[in-house]
Formats: sequence, C-alpha cells, structure tokens
Amino acid sequence: MHDKIAELREKRELSRQGGGKDKLAKQHQQGKLSARERLELLLDEGSFEEIDVFVKHRSKDFGLEKQTFYGDGVVTGFGTIEGRPVAVYSQDFTVFGGSLSETHAEKICKVMKMAMKTGIPVIGLNDSGGARIQEGVVSLGGYADIFLLNTLASGVVPQISVVLGPCAGGAVYSPAITDFVFMVKNSSYMFVTGPNVVKTVTHEEVTFEDLGGAETHSVKSGVAHFAFDNEIETLMNVRHLMEYLPLNFKDKPLSKTFNKGTLRRDERLNSIVPDTANKPYDIKEVIKLLVDEEIFFEVHANYAENIVCGFARMGG
Ligand code: HXC
Repeated sequence: MHDKIAELREKRELSRQGGGKDKLAKQHQQGKLSARERLELLLDEGSFEEIDVFVKHRSKDFGLEKQTFYGDGVVTGFGTIEGRPVAVYSQDFTVFGGSLSETHAEKICKVMKMAMKTGIPVIGLNDSGGARIQEGVVSLGGYADIFLLNTLASGVVPQISVVLGPCAGGAVYSPAITDFVFMVKNSSYMFVTGPNVVKTVTHEEVTFEDLGGAETHSVKSGVAHFAFDNEIETLMNVRHLMEYLPLNFKDKPLSKTFNKGTLRRDERLNSIVPDTANKPYDIKEVIKLLVDEEIFFEVHANYAENIVCGFARMGG
C-alpha cells in the first residue's frame, strides 16, 4: 500500500512539472506564468480541485509514444471566484506548445459538460499552438467536439477565454466564439497560424503583433473585448468581470450591498450634457455619475469607439 501511495505522489509531482524545468524557465523568461500559477491567481486561494491529473495521450505516431506527460498539456478542474463556482481549463505551453491532442480535448470537453450540467461558467486559459500536428485528424476531431460544446453552452453558461500566449488554429477558433475574450499586450497572440508558417506558405513577412497581437484584436478586429498590460492584471480583471455575470441563464447576477446613505443629487449632471447638439461631451463621465461608486467596467474600450458598452451597478 505504501508503495502505491508513493507511486501516486511521484506521478502527481511529475504531472505538476508539465514539460519540465527547462521549458518552464523559458516560459518565465518570456514573462509568462505557468498554467498552474495562472489558476492560482484567477481562483480563490486553495479552492482549485483538479481532475484528470494522470491522463496521457494515446498516439503512437512520429515517436510520440516516447514522449508522454501526465495531464497531457492541460490542467482542468473547478474552483471558486469570490466564493462562486467556476469550471476552468489552463493549457500548458511547456507540453508540446500546449497543443491539443485527442485526450487533451476530452479533458476540456469533460469540464465544459459538467459546467453546463451544474450551471456554472467556463473559463479557459489558452496558451496553445492549436491542434497537435503529429496526431492529425483525431486532434482536429477534438476541436470539433469543443466547438460543438461552445455553441451548446452559448446562452446557457458564460464562457470566458483568456488568451495568454501565442495561440494558433483551433486554440483561437474556440475562444473567438465564446462570450468574452481577454488578451495580454505584447505576449498573447491569436492567429490562424504563426508568422513562420505564413512566411513559408505565402512568402509574406508579418510580425506576431500585426498578425494577431492584442492591439490588432482589441482595436481593429474586435475579437478581443479586453487587453491589459500583463497576465496578473488580466486575470484580476477576469475576476472583476465575474462580479457582473450570473452563473447561468437562470441565475441572477451578484448583487452587492448598497448604502442608501451614499445616494446623492449630483449637480454636475445638470450641465454635463451641453445644450447644443454640436458640442462634444464624454458619455463615460455621464455613466460614472449615474452608477454606484462611479465604477464602470468598460467592454471593447478601444473598438468601435462611437458606442460605449460595459457593466456597472445601480443600487447594488
Ligand atoms: C505540436 C506544437 C504545435 C502544434 C507548437 N508546437 N505548436 N507541437 N502541434 N500545433 C511545439 C513546437 O514544435 C515546439 O516544440 C513548442 O511547441 C514551442 O513552439 P515554438 O514554435 O518553439 O514557440 P513559438 O516560437 O513561441 O511559436 C509558437 C507558435 C508556433 C506561433 C504557436 O509554434 C506555430 O506557429 N505553431 C504552429 C501553429 C499551427 O499552425 N497550428 C494550427 C494547427 S491546425 P519543441 O519540442 O521544439 O519545444 C488547427 C486547426 C483546428 O488547430 C481546426 C479544427 C477543425
């Protein structure tokens, strides 16, 4: 029995190491956190319960049978944000560039299905080169399963995607059809394929940033709803967004205590909108004066700026 427990502990430790110390050091050098460090920041302290820790891929092609990692490049499970449950998956770039194998996809589908059954949001932390090329069509099939679940979960539970590295192929198509997409400036990318493949195929030279950086997607394409300066700020803002969302289509959004004593008559509202229609004014200033504690959480702040959208509270 002791041997078995020791073996289990050893396997769990191996699973925690992902693709190994060298690859993890490279990830840190690039200013990126590991898949598990990200979950620790996103979720309430000590709330994460991991599932499918010992899953390995089943492929025997291209020497893959000699390269197996417990967890197969994605950490999945459940945790809480401000005490409310969420389902999560976090891709590990240190294992085959976070690429999606058949089993990696099965792990993601499992948490998505459980989230739909229990009515809780799905938050995906994406750091993946897309379908695992060596596996061919079975990994593509894995994406088909995820895309189907994305469409079935739409309107049932919130789906939030956080893009935290160079994401390509299916690792982008799935986030793009979820409700909210977060990106990190200068370290996260969303494209059909990377600049090197583009150069080989079309001879066109294009930078990571122009092809699919946070600026490109939060300003030009509108695919990303939010872009922040670093991973920590990004994950803290995912927690902030969660404050405004219900857990599912039947649930009510979280309401906060509202102190009626803070109700005020703000004289600034009398003059903030100019009498003449050809004088400009800042609508965000108007919104702030109308909502609780002047807190307005803007969505798509830099895209299609002639309309302002976002979340705030009124009377809690
Ligand atoms: C297997 C992959 C991989 C992939 C990266 N890796 N993407 N392995 N399948 N899709 C591996 C690399 O071989 C490398 O392994 C390690 O991950 C890190 O990758 P690098 O290239 O060194 O990193 P970087 O320079 O940061 O570039 C990241 C990248 C680039 C931009 C994502 O790797 C890239 O362009 N990959 C190909 C992306 C792609 O074409 N994906 C589309 C898949 S098709 P080593 O061992 O050297 O460390 C798809 C379609 C789905 O997803 C459609 C469904 C219907």
